[in-house]
Amino acid sequence: MESYTLRVNDQVHDVEAAPDTPLLWVLRDLIGLTGTKYGCGVGLCRSCTVLVDGSAVPSCQQPVSTVGTRSVTTIEGLSESGDHPLQELWNELNVSQCGFCQAGQIMTAAGWLSENPAPSDEDIDRFQSVNLCRCGTYPRIREAIRTAARRMQGADR
Ligand code: FES
Ligand code: FES
Repeated sequence: MESYTLRVNDQVHDVEAAPDTPLLWVLRDLIGLTGTKYGCGVGLCRSCTVLVDGSAVPSCQQPVSTVGTRSVTTIEGLSESGDHPLQELWNELNVSQCGFCQAGQIMTAAGWLSENPAPSDEDIDRFQSVNLCRCGTYPRIREAIRTAARRMQGADR
């Protein structure tokens, strides 16, 4: 076991874990942030996506020892009141079906939208293609991201 000081959702957490412990399990089991979901555990589904210094990463593939001083954001920390434009559109368009993949979908979108604020539908499909949804909610995901992007640019209200 080693000691790590992590900055998660703008709060500092001191944890003890083996160096190769995936960040996913530190978030869920040691810090209690269960919004980040375990799907495959091998980097293929992205249900476990969080932001590390603003970039979307699969937390099941990020050993806690590699996080360092970088800032981690989970779905719980994306906005103070659950009112990030992506979260608003997810609700307004009833995007979720079973919901299991959806936190990862939102975090992936939040990551790339900051670099690509005016995406085409092709961009959305390409960037989101790493996130699997077995319920097939992709059309609603695309519409939600398209509208959220406009809202983030002040063009949808
Ligand atoms: S649980 Fe991390 S990619 Fe599937
Ligand atoms: S909503 Fe069920 S897996 Fe995506």
